[in-house]
Amino acid sequence: MEKTATLLPAEPLPEAERAGVYRAIFTRRDTRGEFLPDPVPDEILGRLLSAAHHAPSVGFMQPWSFVIVRDREVRTQVHEAFRQAHAEAALMFPDEKRETYRALKLEGILESPVNICVTCDRDRAGPAVIGRTHIRAMDLFASVCAVQNLWLAARAEGLGVGWVSIFDNGKLQRILGIPRRIVPIAYLCVGKVRGYHPKPELEAAGWLPRLPLETLLHFDRWGASEETERLKRVVHEQEKALRSPA
Ligand SMILES: Cc1cc2nc3c(=O)[nH]c(=O)nc-3n(C[C@H](O)[C@H](O)[C@H](O)COP(=O)(O)O)c2cc1C
Repeated sequence: MEKTATLLPAEPLPEAERAGVYRAIFTRRDTRGEFLPDPVPDEILGRLLSAAHHAPSVGFMQPWSFVIVRDREVRTQVHEAFRQAHAEAALMFPDEKRETYRALKLEGILESPVNICVTCDRDRAGPAVIGRTHIRAMDLFASVCAVQNLWLAARAEGLGVGWVSIFDNGKLQRILGIPRRIVPIAYLCVGKVRGYHPKPELEAAGWLPRLPLETLLHFDRWGASEETERLKRVVHEQEKALRSPA
């Protein structure tokens, strides 16, 4: 590797830019019911795709591709595939949660003007990939990193993104003509929105609460210690400050 390459400065970003990054992270939402029909300008779409393409990837394999779906007929077929899977899914929840599940809005396939299917080509970089020699699933995780980049860029652009995963993946693959060896990773509904919910909708609906971060931390080893308790408090305070900047 080139040893004399000039490095870019490693100072923190200027305060307003730093605040912008955290703001995008904390106000990003999964969007389903708030889409506006306005088309997404090509320049913005281009920026979202470019952000996705600059995600980290195992061995720099860049396993992703993006199927951009605007055609209403194709989206109608995808919506039908969702409807079928959604009906099957309802039967998998316990009786007391089934009606709540059925009432949730879990997609905006037809209301959003553009859908993007992010895929993973598991063979893109040949049989031996740096970092994937022992854990084969790393390429799938890389494609998910691309999704997250796109999602945050969309928030920065004032757009909404909704991830729809309630599909028979094979059916989705056939509708979009995706070759069998390519894995659909995420089906995203993208568009302008009326606004963002302040909290995850599943949290607001009482489906599940946000877990307190400090209950998810382990220092040095799985388990607690006095030091752990102190650090947990610091993390808790920092998280509170980031989520509600002065
Ligand atoms: C892998 C993955 C799959 C998801 N699938 C769906 C889905 O099928 N339908 C849906 O409405 N939301 C889906 N979501 C969105 C989550 O429900 C949402 O991220 C979570 O409730 C937290 O809300 P927030 O994204 O608004 O913060 C998915 C999210 C992820 C990361």
